[in-house]
Amino acid sequence: MLFDACTIGGIHAACRIVRSATFEGMADAEGHPTDKLCHMYETLAEGGTGIIITGMIAASRLEPHQHHQILLDDDSCIAPLAAITQAVHAKGGKIIAQIVIMGSAIMVPEGEDRIIVSPSGVPDKIGRTLQESQALTKEQIQRLVEDVGQAALRARKAGFDGVQFHGAHGYLASKFLTPYYNQRSDEYGGDLMGRARFLRQCIASIKQTAGSDFPVWVKLNCADFMKEGGMTAEESLQVMHWLADDGISAIEISGGNTSSLPRKGPIRAIRRTKEPMYFAPYAEKAAKELQGQTDIGVVGGWRSAAEMEEFLNTAPVSFISMCRPLLRQPDLPNRWRRGDTEPATCISCSRCFGDTDVDCIFHDTAEED
Ligand SMILES: Cc1cc2nc3c(=O)[nH]c(=O)nc-3n(C[C@H](O)[C@H](O)[C@H](O)COP(=O)(O)O)c2cc1C
Ligand code: SF4
Repeated sequence: MLFDACTIGGIHAACRIVRSATFEGMADAEGHPTDKLCHMYETLAEGGTGIIITGMIAASRLEPHQHHQILLDDDSCIAPLAAITQAVHAKGGKIIAQIVIMGSAIMVPEGEDRIIVSPSGVPDKIGRTLQESQALTKEQIQRLVEDVGQAALRARKAGFDGVQFHGAHGYLASKFLTPYYNQRSDEYGGDLMGRARFLRQCIASIKQTAGSDFPVWVKLNCADFMKEGGMTAEESLQVMHWLADDGISAIEISGGNTSSLPRKGPIRAIRRTKEPMYFAPYAEKAAKELQGQTDIGVVGGWRSAAEMEEFLNTAPVSFISMCRPLLRQPDLPNRWRRGDTEPATCISCSRCFGDTDVDCIFHDTAEED
């Protein structure tokens, strides 16, 4: 099942393994992809990943961009990104652009003078510092929603097979969903319907601008796992139902943000939590409830083909994603396809996390096989 050709979220793929979005920090000064990034995606496609989701790509000039981040905020990006999609397609792979509005979950580059935005100006926890931000006006929200649609249209023109809107991990759409961070009293805050409005408007904008036949995925927290004021698992399920009603092509389930309880964030050290595949129960529940309405996938701690196969056979999920294992072993899907039963060698140390030229630390040492 894992290695059968299939259609996931409107995209035909060679297998059910998806590379979850991984910020690579490989853009040049103009926000265009470097040759190194193109080579990374080609290698992933060659290694047998069914669908690659790019690292988060900035969609709006209203807010600052991360260091070395790819930009989809003007037409100059279309040609350089088209070179990437062509390279991936030539290797038989598929590729989706992950579009993000960062909000206050950003490490601001020096010399940047654009405003940092958030739903209500509640300071964000970034590492040990608190990130100040300005509460968005309704006009600014409208501008962001339009920018997201335009970015998706550019992605389509560049040849991407679809887009994934980042609704997880405490980036802006996720912040709107979180009561602690969203204290607005207008229609973008209050009850869950209000807090989900920004996310749903972004999805509607993508469909309207890029075309309703263009696959639109979303990455969503199954819960925020905060001490208090986080989005709950029940609320997340309700949001998934609304997204399915809105015609979302696929939902990739993740969880947590920078304010989550210890070891409850999105990128976990599996050996310490002793919880591999840490969002599997949430994905199973969502997939059962939403069966026949949209495709559900899951990311977080998947390290063995046997466990993936077993999960696909017990729960009606459509795909399983990996991030860190494919940084260390971009050929892992093909190794497994050929019958190798060894789990991924990634030790989930997360030392690959960074803002430029992201890579597995073992690639610099003799430990790499
Ligand atoms: C280096 C690095 C960069 C990441 N960049 C992104 C990103 O751009 N967008 C995103 O949604 N998640 C990002 N993530 C989170 C992963 O997509 C994934 O949700 C998380 O690492 C858990 O999956 P894993 O156990 O397979 O690594 C990143 C994770 C790492 C380690
Ligand atoms: S640095 Fe650690 S977490 Fe990242 S890919 Fe390498 S082994 Fe995995």
